[in-house]
Amino acid sequence: MSKLFEILNKSEPEIAQMIRPLLDGQPQPATHDSAAAEVIATSLEVSDPPSNRSRPAAESAHAESFLAQVRTLGLHVPAPSPLLPFDDGQWQASEQYRVLRTRIVQHPKRPRLIVISSAAPGDGKSISAINIAATLSLKSEARVLLVDADFRKSAIHVQLGLPEAPGLTDVLSGTCSPEEALVNARELPNLYLMCAGTPPANPVELLDSSPWPALCAQMRSLFHYVVVDSPPVAAVADYDLIQAPCDGVVLVVRPDHTPRQLLRRSLEIVAKEKLLGVVLNCVPEWFLATSTSPNYYYYSKGNGPRKVDPLARHAR
Ligand SMILES: Nc1ncnc2c1ncn2[C@@H]1O[C@H](COP(=O)(O)OP(=O)(O)OP(=O)(O)O)[C@@H](O)[C@H]1O
Ligand SMILES: [Mg+2]
Repeated sequence: MSKLFEILNKSEPEIAQMIRPLLDGQPQPATHDSAAAEVIATSLEVSDPPSNRSRPAAESAHAESFLAQVRTLGLHVPAPSPLLPFDDGQWQASEQYRVLRTRIVQHPKRPRLIVISSAAPGDGKSISAINIAATLSLKSEARVLLVDADFRKSAIHVQLGLPEAPGLTDVLSGTCSPEEALVNARELPNLYLMCAGTPPANPVELLDSSPWPALCAQMRSLFHYVVVDSPPVAAVADYDLIQAPCDGVVLVVRPDHTPRQLLRRSLEIVAKEKLLGVVLNCVPEWFLATSTSPNYYYYSKGNGPRKVDPLARHAR
């Protein structure tokens, strides 16, 4: 039985029924430190290699000329930060995000517009969205857009040191064009960003109109993947409007933080056919080691696979 099940679900068999199939997939490499996001599960493995998929329209000359108009800006990530974990200093977190990338890329539903949400505020949606988008963009053939659609608690511009506006709200309200609101990250040439934009008086009205689905359709033609940071699932109407034109939802769960009842409610709300998987965020190292097999492995860049003995670790 997984620790997620034990901790969040002691008396809720219906949550178990929904989460368990996700947890019972293939074991994950157990890399961890307390600041790392951990992938506990995504949905089923598939066998088709990404190279067999048809190329999206993002390769077209139209996309090239459109994106040539987008300004390039440098990212300013405050240190220390749980962000962009693909440097040598954060290899454990980096490895986990690469696992998640593989699961997304090889997912049978072939999701391209992916919403990152969670049950509660502060679960790590924005951090996860940034890291997932950045890791996807490291695949050389993937052009990735990260969109901040959480107008009430926009965070991506803060986390990455970018201007908040112009952004998504400005595009949806018609005060600027998508190419004016997009930013290309200087450090990650395949990563594009659309920050939240000028804070709107009524976020629901902006999302509950034709510009959002139309923008999603346009972005689908320009990017291989669009990662959308969103508000919590059950908190406001925004989530439902945001996810409607998207392909799938990744739910972030933080065991020391996410209220069990809200998680159950979220699992009821997220359409089963759209739930791509669950990311377990901010778990201590012992968590995964004891939640799967006592013989757990994690992978370091220089030294190859290393066997972890959880009992020895606890005895230290
Ligand atoms: N894996 C992590 N390691 C360390 N800190 C983290 C991690 N995930 C999130 N945090 C920190 O927790 C806080 C909340 O994270 P984040 O903003 O991503 O949550 P959120 O779910 O988007 O919140 P909100 O509901 O307010 O939008 C931030 O200060 C972030 O730096
Ligand atoms: Mg957020």
